[in-house]
Amino acid sequence: MPEPKFTETFAIVGTFVHSSTENPLIKLEDHCLGVADSKIVFLQKCDANLQTTLLDHNIAAESVIYLEDRQFLVPGFVDTHIHASQYPNCGKGLDEGLLSWLQKYTFPVEAKFADLEYASDTYSKVISRVIKNGTTTACYFATIDTDATLRLCDIVDKAGQRAVVGKVNMDQNSPDFYKEETTQSYRNTVRFVQEVLKRKYQLVKPCITPRFAITCCMDLMKQLGQLARTHQLHVQTHICETKDECNMVQKLFPENKSYTDVYEEAGLLTQKTVLAHGIYLSKEERELIKRRRSGISHCPNSNLSIRSGLLDVKDCFEDDIAVGLGTDISGGYSPSIMDAMRTAISTSNTIAMQRGPSYTPLDYKDVFRMATLGGARVLDMDDIIGNFEVGKEFDALIIDPKAPTSVIDVFENDTIEDVIQKFVFLGDDRNISKVFVAGRDLSLEKVVVEQ
Ligand code: GUN
Ligand code: FE
Repeated sequence: MPEPKFTETFAIVGTFVHSSTENPLIKLEDHCLGVADSKIVFLQKCDANLQTTLLDHNIAAESVIYLEDRQFLVPGFVDTHIHASQYPNCGKGLDEGLLSWLQKYTFPVEAKFADLEYASDTYSKVISRVIKNGTTTACYFATIDTDATLRLCDIVDKAGQRAVVGKVNMDQNSPDFYKEETTQSYRNTVRFVQEVLKRKYQLVKPCITPRFAITCCMDLMKQLGQLARTHQLHVQTHICETKDECNMVQKLFPENKSYTDVYEEAGLLTQKTVLAHGIYLSKEERELIKRRRSGISHCPNSNLSIRSGLLDVKDCFEDDIAVGLGTDISGGYSPSIMDAMRTAISTSNTIAMQRGPSYTPLDYKDVFRMATLGGARVLDMDDIIGNFEVGKEFDALIIDPKAPTSVIDVFENDTIEDVIQKFVFLGDDRNISKVFVAGRDLSLEKVVVEQ
């Protein structure tokens, strides 16, 4: 088959797999999906009416792409928590718990981003890697350096990925070589936000990013909360990741009822707030998070790799809190949301073994929805991405279980459900043959951006 051309307006015929609020796994075989100007304009069965639909949307026969045997389309993956700046450490330095890990490995590598050339090179590498792994939308932590964070925005924009990007704030309990003065931290954040808004990127948004309560004083967090409100910005931070961290927050903010209450007082809990980890949240804290409609980023690889603990996602679901998946590079060692899906299942299975047979762990359908629609909901973007609803942006992946070097073996009697499960448990970047963001085929473009 000749290499198909995905122009501005095209249609794809084949099997579509996505989620809705009601159903974590919807399988649509022998369907056709139309794309025009970055959006999904129709999704229907390949029946006698299809020709009329194609004509109505001015889609010529040569712009109809047919998926091959066993291939299927899924919504692009959403990584709700990733430190782009920690990519050089990805896969190493996991011998310490959170607080000493930050001092020993993380702050030193983040400090290097004051060098713009280092920043450009490293950010290009991580963006390229995560796009290959199917991340069409990412919520990035950068570093405290404003110019390097603006460079990250440029690189993401050129690569064509959808993203929320934050300049990190930290004005206390941080080493001298990687720390800001309070006023400067706020001013630089204002400059970052204004500059990003001025650049009018199509798919890149600025994010308010107080690292966590330990490294930010209340005054700074309150100013940042106000800034987020003024411009209706996303907010991202860490919460209740380890017990030592929770104890330290309690000591630093003795007046506050809880860790969550610290962020509440600062005005940082909104519908656009992403809270990473949340392992040790109390029921009361979850109820507050639910009232503010903030979301949780579940980072199972990181939680196991630096031994933070096991998040019981089902508690969050019971309290109707949106939960998405995060790689949390480099606390997590994998840049892939496919890895996050299976590590979320392993974590849930571990909890099930502790709890006994009455506990139903997450299954492959649940984590598939968390990787797509769940993540979109956490980022308050479920009105534009997350599944194949007509009117949404076309962010999608062509999955090829039988790609030449694939480690998945498909058997003749495998059903679609079987093949999807095999993809969730065994899939990797070799099985992602195309990556679309806003209707644009990123795999046909050079992802690494030369600055
Ligand atoms: N808490 C504060 N900073 C960090 C970080 O960089 N990674 C993780 N996993 N937790 C944090
Ligand atoms: Fe993190």
